[in-house]
Amino acid sequence: MNSLAKLALLLAGLAVVITCSAEAFTESAPQNASPIFGVTIPDGYRQWELVAPAQEGEPLNELRAVLGNPIALKAYREGTLPFPDGTVLAKLAWKHVQSPEFEPASIPGAATTLQIMVKDSKKYAATGGWGFGRFVNGKPVDEAQHETCFACHEARVKNHDFVFTRLAP
Ligand code: HEC
Repeated sequence: MNSLAKLALLLAGLAVVITCSAEAFTESAPQNASPIFGVTIPDGYRQWELVAPAQEGEPLNELRAVLGNPIALKAYREGTLPFPDGTVLAKLAWKHVQSPEFEPASIPGAATTLQIMVKDSKKYAATGGWGFGRFVNGKPVDEAQHETCFACHEARVKNHDFVFTRLAP
C-alpha cells in the first residue's frame, strides 16, 4: 500500500470515530433537558387527558391543569400505587385573570411554567422513582430550582407516591 492510500484509510477511520462520538454525545445529552434529571418535554402532552385542575393563590395567583399520559390515567382509575414506570404527569400553569367578558369568571392568562414528572424507578431511585423538569418558554430552568422539587413532594405526599394531584371526580 502506498503512503497516499494509507493516509486515505487513516482519514476514513478518523471520520468514523468523530461521527460515532458525536452521536453518542447527542444521545446522552438531549437538547433542552432539565438539569439533574435529564427530563424533556414529552411529545403530544397537550393531547393527554385531564387529571385535575388546580388554583394557587397569591403571590403566584395561577390556574393549573395536571394532565397524564395513558399509563398515568390507567393507574389513577385502577388506584395503582406506586405509579408504574412509564407514568408521565404534566402540570400546565397560567396567570389567573378575570374574564373581560364576564366579571365573575376566571380564565387563563399568560402561560408561566410547564412541569413534568416521569416515573422510572431505577433511573430515579434516589428521588422516589421520579424525574422532574420545570420549563419556561420551552427551556428548562436552572439546577437550583430542580433541587427543590423532590423535597416538597416528599415532605407532603410521600403516602401518595409523591404525587399531589388526585383524579378529579
Ligand atoms: C413548595 C412545594 C413544591 C415544590 C418545591 C414543587 N412542587 Fe410540584 N407540586 C406542588 C403542589 C402543591 C402540587 C399540586 C398541584 C398544584 O397545586 O399546583 C404539585 C404538582 C406537581 C405536578 C403534578 C403532579 C402532582 O404531584 O400533583 C408536577 C408534574 C410537579 N408538581 C412538578 C414539580 C417540579 C418539576 C418541581 C421542581 C422544579 C416541583 N414540582 C416543585 C408543590 C411543589
